[in-house]
Amino acid sequence: MRHIMVLNSKGGCGKSTIATNLASYYADQGKRVTLVDYDPQASSLDWLDRRPEGRAAIMGLNGAKDGLTHLARNSEIVIEDAPARSHGAELTALVRRAETLIVPVMPSAIDMQASTRFLEELVSVGKVKRKKVKIAVIANRVRESTIIFEQLDEYLEDLNVPYIATFREAQNYIRAYIRGLGIFELPEYLAWPDWEQWDPLIEWLQSRRSRP
Ligand SMILES: Nc1ncnc2c1ncn2[C@@H]1O[C@H](COP(=O)(O)OP(=O)(O)O)[C@@H](O)[C@H]1O
Ligand SMILES: [Mg+2]
Repeated sequence: MRHIMVLNSKGGCGKSTIATNLASYYADQGKRVTLVDYDPQASSLDWLDRRPEGRAAIMGLNGAKDGLTHLARNSEIVIEDAPARSHGAELTALVRRAETLIVPVMPSAIDMQASTRFLEELVSVGKVKRKKVKIAVIANRVRESTIIFEQLDEYLEDLNVPYIATFREAQNYIRAYIRGLGIFELPEYLAWPDWEQWDPLIEWLQSRRSRP
């Protein structure tokens, strides 16, 4: 069972967007996917409620309420959407089952500052220190050729954490989300630029580099 968690203590950086897209990507690949929503706002479960019948099935769990107690043993991929504001003991407990952590960061001064603090805290968690979990950062909601993206790009390059992918700001994410779909389930002529941007993340997740 593969556990992938999307987290950052900052709200609005794209955790639920990335979690739901990963879930639908793996479901489309024929995997048995469980999507665990730890956020009391339950955006991922709302998305799952909207998922049209006939699309690749994804099992939803309310992690905020039940943790992983109802996790089906035959799940192949577990995608965990972490809550905002996870710190301290809660953060340690949260990453307990994860093998791979994906931290999205938005191009904004406030987000970069908050992420610096969050990543510092994250790398001090025992499990992370012992390299029992692998972390990557992703730039999300990026507008190319903006100064703030340049700054984010430099900031992420300089971190001591692999910088795996850059996702542009695109209506496709919103379009897909409101229909209970992932960007991989939108028509190719619309979504191909986003598919390309996901390649490095998918590749990293498939490689040994993303596993402890
Ligand atoms: N790459 C993107 N392009 C456009 N909108 C995005 C992108 N990523 C996230 N969003 C939007 O930004 C908002 C916050 O994203 P969300 O995934 O809910 O963040 P979080 O779960 O970290 O709070 C949502 O309205 C979402 O649709
Ligand atoms: Mg969310």
